Amino acid sequence: MSRSVRLVPAAALLAVTLALTGCDSDGGSDGGAPGGGPHAGAPGLGDPYFPKAGNGGYDVSHYGLTLAYEPDGNRLTGTAAITARATQALSSFDLDLYGMDVTKVTVEGGEAGFDRDGQELTVRPRRDLAKGETFEVTVRYSGSPRTITDPDESEEGWLRTEDGALALGEPTGSMAWFPGNHHPSDKASYDIAVTVPEELTAVSNGEPKGERTADGRRTFTWHTAEPMASYAATVAIGRYTVTRSTTENGLPVYVAVDPTQVSASRAVLARIPEVTEWAQDNFGPYPFSSTGAIVDRPEDSGYALETQNRPVHPGAPDTETLVHEIAHQWFGDSVTPRTWQDMWLNEGFATYAEWLWTEDEGGDTAEETFTALYDDGEEDYPDLWAFPPAKPTDAAQISGDPVYQRGAMVIHLIRRTVGDDAFYDLVQGWTAAHRHGTAGTDDFTAYVEQQAPDEDFTEIWDDWLYGKGKPEQP
Ligand code: TRP
Ligand code: ZN
Repeated sequence: MSRSVRLVPAAALLAVTLALTGCDSDGGSDGGAPGGGPHAGAPGLGDPYFPKAGNGGYDVSHYGLTLAYEPDGNRLTGTAAITARATQALSSFDLDLYGMDVTKVTVEGGEAGFDRDGQELTVRPRRDLAKGETFEVTVRYSGSPRTITDPDESEEGWLRTEDGALALGEPTGSMAWFPGNHHPSDKASYDIAVTVPEELTAVSNGEPKGERTADGRRTFTWHTAEPMASYAATVAIGRYTVTRSTTENGLPVYVAVDPTQVSASRAVLARIPEVTEWAQDNFGPYPFSSTGAIVDRPEDSGYALETQNRPVHPGAPDTETLVHEIAHQWFGDSVTPRTWQDMWLNEGFATYAEWLWTEDEGGDTAEETFTALYDDGEEDYPDLWAFPPAKPTDAAQISGDPVYQRGAMVIHLIRRTVGDDAFYDLVQGWTAAHRHGTAGTDDFTAYVEQQAPDEDFTEIWDDWLYGKGKPEQP
C-alpha cells in the first residue's frame, strides 16, 4: 500500500476501513448480492500480513470458554459460547479454528450446519441473521490442540510443557485453542473456565472468580471485563507457586511461577507494583483490573508475551523485560493495533519504555540510547535499517529489529521535536483517546500532528516510519 499520510489521512483511513469491512470475497459466498440480501460473511479481514485472520460480517462482544484439559494425551475438550452482533445480514459466517474436531454448533440455541476448510469454520445458521442482530453461537469441540510455527519460526498456539500446557496467541495462535474472530481489530470480554487434574493449577487473564474440585478435577474460572484482543488471551496449566497481593493503590497482583523458577525470579517479580506505578506515571492510568505475571520454564516458550493482565515470561525475567511487558498493557493490550502492520505501535512503545526506565534509573538517557543505535546499532541489530517500522517486508518481519528498535527511535524523535512536557502529555493523551480500543498508524500520525500543530513531522513519517534505508537525522 502506498502511503501519503500527511496529505490524505482521510483517504488512507477509508482504504483501511474498506479492507476491514469488505463483504463477500473469494470463499464462502452463497451468491447473495453484497450490500443486498443476506450473504456470507467474509472468511478474512484482509489484514496486510495475515489476510485470513478474523472474519467479516460480525463483531464479537463476549467469549465464554469452558475448557477441560488432560496433559496425559494432550486432550482438550471445549465449549465456546460467543456473543456477537451481525454487521451485515448474514446467511453464513466464519470463525477461525485451527485443528480440533468440531462436534456441534448452535446459533441462538438451534443446531447449525458447519464446514471446515483450513482455519475457517463456516457456520450456517438455520435462519439468516439480520444486520444489527445480536446472536449467540456455541461451538463444541475436542482433540489434541496444535502448536503453530509462525512465519518468523517461533512457536505459538498450544505449547505442551513439562507439567501441563501454555497457550500463546501472537499473532495467530489463539485459533489453536478456541474458535473466534481472531484478529486484533475485534476485542471482547472473556469468561474462561478450565478444568484440570486436581494437582494442577490453571491461570488465565483477568481476575480469578473461584475454584471448585470434584472427582479428582479442579476447575478454575477467570473473568476479563475489559476488552481483550484474542492474541493477548492465555491459559497456563501446570504446577505453579501462586502469590496474591495488591499494589499500594489497591490493584490486585496475581503472580504464578513454575516452582523451578521461584528463587531466580523472586527479586524481579517483587518489582511488579513499582514498575506498574512507574508506568502509570508515564503512560496514564493502568487500563485493567489486575496485574501480575506468569513465569514458566525457559524452554516452554522461549519468548515473553504481553498476555493481558499478566504477561508470560520464559523463566525469570530481567527488569527491562518486565518493564517491556508491563508497558505493553497500555501499548498493545489497551490500545491495540488495528492490523498487524501497526505492530510497531506495540513494540516501538514497549521498547521505548525500556529506554525511559533506564533513563529514570540513572542509566543511559533515551537520547544516549538513540545516538548509540544510530551510530552503530547494526552491531547488535543487523537488520536495523533493513525495512521501515511501519512497513515490514513480510509476515516473518513483524517481529524484526526495525519494528522494535527503529520504532522506539521514531517515538524518541517525536519527543525531541515536541520537548519533554508535551511528549508525556501526548503519550498520555494517546493512551486515553484509544483506551480499550484499536488504533492504526494513520491514527497515530494524525494524533501527533493535531497535538503539535506547529511542528513539522514530515521527515519523521516519510523517512523514519515509512522510508527505506538508514535515514538522515531530522
Ligand atoms: N510481543 C512479544 C514481546 O515483545 C514478542 C512476540 C511474541 C512477537 N510473539 C510475537 C512479536 C509474534 C511479533 C509477532 O514481548
Ligand atoms: Zn514487545
